[in-house]
Amino acid sequence: MNQMRLGDSPLQASRIGLGCMRLSDVQSQAVSTVRAALDQGINFFDHADVYGGGSREQVFSAIWEDRPGLRDQVLLQSKCGIRRAGDPDAHSPTRYDFSYEHIVRSVEGSLRRLQTDHLDVLLLHRPDALVEPEEVARAFDELHRVGKVRFFGVSNHTSAQIQLLQTCVRQPLIANQLELSVAHSQLINDGIVFNRDDLGVMSRSEGTLEFCRIRKITIQAWGPLARGVLSGSAVSNPDARMEQAAALVAQLAADKGVSREAILIAWLLRHPARIQPIIGTTNPERIAAACQADRVELTHEEWYRLFEAGRGGRVP
Ligand SMILES: NC(=O)c1ccc[n+]([C@@H]2O[C@H](COP(=O)([O-])OP(=O)(O)OC[C@H]3O[C@@H](n4cnc5c(N)ncnc54)[C@H](OP(=O)(O)O)[C@@H]3O)[C@@H](O)[C@H]2O)c1
Repeated sequence: MNQMRLGDSPLQASRIGLGCMRLSDVQSQAVSTVRAALDQGINFFDHADVYGGGSREQVFSAIWEDRPGLRDQVLLQSKCGIRRAGDPDAHSPTRYDFSYEHIVRSVEGSLRRLQTDHLDVLLLHRPDALVEPEEVARAFDELHRVGKVRFFGVSNHTSAQIQLLQTCVRQPLIANQLELSVAHSQLINDGIVFNRDDLGVMSRSEGTLEFCRIRKITIQAWGPLARGVLSGSAVSNPDARMEQAAALVAQLAADKGVSREAILIAWLLRHPARIQPIIGTTNPERIAAACQADRVELTHEEWYRLFEAGRGGRVP
């Protein structure tokens, strides 16, 4: 598996990361998933304090016993900033919360569940409308000072929201995790349809993709397999766009003698932003299938054909 630098940091991560949101709560199954990823050369694991209410971080930690000495060979990322329903009291609804107390408490919980003394990367999960950049900076300073977090980043943030944080946060923000796939290419499409009234669309991503490229912030693509809708998952009401896109994915996979998953991931790897796909499959065969992308080269033309199929029409 090829490796890449995360942002401008010295962290060397596998080109493809494993997302742990859907890990089984059955420990042996979760360990099989993680083992399959390690066997493919994946060294980067994405968590969040809220996945499974904390249970995903907990089941993951069984891997330390399975592979002694592994902690120093992998990178652990977790996220904070979503306060779950029932916290702090039984009637509290889910809220975004970037307060100092919540950030620090969340990291302490993740470290306990993951059975480790530090996170390699901490992301702010979803923008908090009431964000106080000074408070985020205070939490990051403290977590960094005591060695609990090495590097920081964000998720689902626009360029303006990142710049607002950077008015106070002193550490570099090395990653922005965003939904991106052949089936969900809004981030890229916005740059293509900008200023085109006739298309009836408004750009909503504020040049976030270009901003991250300029600032050397790694874009991590979540949902990169589009939950299987373009690679064989049974869809109850498939629309014509998805059917055509799935057919093209299947055709390219057959032409190149690789899996359909590999074509979907190779589409992300082909983009010059050096995107890191975070695959969420828990199935060992599908993990191996997706990792074939590491040796697939899509041409400029193949990339555009997939882009047009996924967006449901020719570029203007
Ligand atoms: N930052 C955020 O806001 C955010 C949001 C969502 C997710 N994430 C992160 O990103 C990671 C990936 O997200 P994701 O899980 O949505 O991505 P994904 O890789 O696009 O989807 C994985 C899901 O699709 C299913 N799937 C894939 N191919 C299939 C096929 N051919 N047939 C049937 N099912 C298929 C998988 O089932 P199997 O397990 O059976 O293969 C799994 O349930 C997560 O684990 C998490 O770490 C972040």
